[in-house]
Amino acid sequence: MAMIALKAPSIQVTVVDLNAARIAAWKSDTLPIYEPGLDEVVRQVRGRNLHFSTAVADGIRDADIIFVSVNTPTKTYGVGAGRAADLRYIESVARTIAEHADGPKIIVEKSTIPVKTAETIKDILAANSRGHTFQVLSNPEFLAEGTAVADLTAPDRVLIGGERTPGGEVAIQKLVDVYAHWVPRERIITTNLWSSEMAKLVANAFLAQRISSINSISALCEATGADVDEVAHAIGRDSRIGPKFLKASLGFGGSCFQKDILNLSYLRAFRPARGGRLLGERRADERLAEAPLLPPDRQLPLQHRRGQAHRGAGLRLQEGYQRHPGIPGDRRLPRPARGAGPRGGL
Ligand SMILES: NC(=O)c1ccc[n+]([C@@H]2O[C@H](COP(=O)([O-])OP(=O)(O)OC[C@H]3O[C@@H](n4cnc5c(N)ncnc54)[C@H](O)[C@@H]3O)[C@@H](O)[C@H]2O)c1
Repeated sequence: MAMIALKAPSIQVTVVDLNAARIAAWKSDTLPIYEPGLDEVVRQVRGRNLHFSTAVADGIRDADIIFVSVNTPTKTYGVGAGRAADLRYIESVARTIAEHADGPKIIVEKSTIPVKTAETIKDILAANSRGHTFQVLSNPEFLAEGTAVADLTAPDRVLIGGERTPGGEVAIQKLVDVYAHWVPRERIITTNLWSSEMAKLVANAFLAQRISSINSISALCEATGADVDEVAHAIGRDSRIGPKFLKASLGFGGSCFQKDILNLSYLRAFRPARGGRLLGERRADERLAEAPLLPPDRQLPLQHRRGQAHRGAGLRLQEGYQRHPGIPGDRRLPRPARGAGPRGGL
């Protein structure tokens, strides 16, 4: 929000939070979070077009666009405990917006949420509002701790998902116009709502998987005399791999990777049976999504199991090769009966 205020001086930005101590800290010289460069940004815009308040209802009434950035921790009880995202804060905000909105609003999901959360928000708004229209957009945040201000100043991309209806397109364009104050248009990606919600979880799963991969290689390096930093440097120079997120460590830090991967893998259990798969059935790609969550001593066996799935495919390739007419007849494999091949797969 501070970056929007800095780059778009014509826009008034008000941050509201129920937590009075946090709001007081945002108004003080000691901000509630530390990020290099953030103090300077806040100092420039606070009181100009960036304001902090606990008056949530007033904030809702005054805003054209409402960014919802509440916490979405992993559930600790009930269905999905330990894996699914706890959406009670999102649902509470949706009810509060419906209660206090006195005109049409654009609601932007900034929090990281499960795919289809926008549907829940829309249902709550429809059930509780007094006839006002709402557009729900998804605009996930991709910044990294420690480089947040730089990431926000020059983002690789900004992602905006919305409904592909005339009203949805207008809302998407309004949010594009906000970012266009400083982000080149070709870096602003617009998608449908579900692609945007999904992309955030998938991005974190891919990043966590890189860290898990280099961590599992570090044990092998220690056993063989290789230096994992040198290996990471060498493979990172391959442009197909790239240098980022290849620092071996005890695990992955930050507050988001674990909860977002749990969230993504939990979502898979709710895939409808229409796709040909029974509800709750676990497939190789599902186990792969969970791989970064396993303790280091279980990561190698899991990758080994994944190797078995690959070996199934490899075996089929090898069989195909051995059936090739160029192979002498006595070394060719017989063609298996229809349906007799390995089942399942990746
Ligand atoms: N922190 C990051 O670097 C980062 C990066 C990308 C995405 N995210 C996502 O952003 C979301 C928020 O993360 P965070 O680290 O800022 O969480 P946080 O817990 O630090 O802050 C959430 C704030 O929301 C307030 N809140 C909760 N319910 C409220 C309500 N009904 N009305 C008003 N305020 C309310 C809380 O008081 C709290 O101050 C999460 O979904 C997270 O996954 C965070």
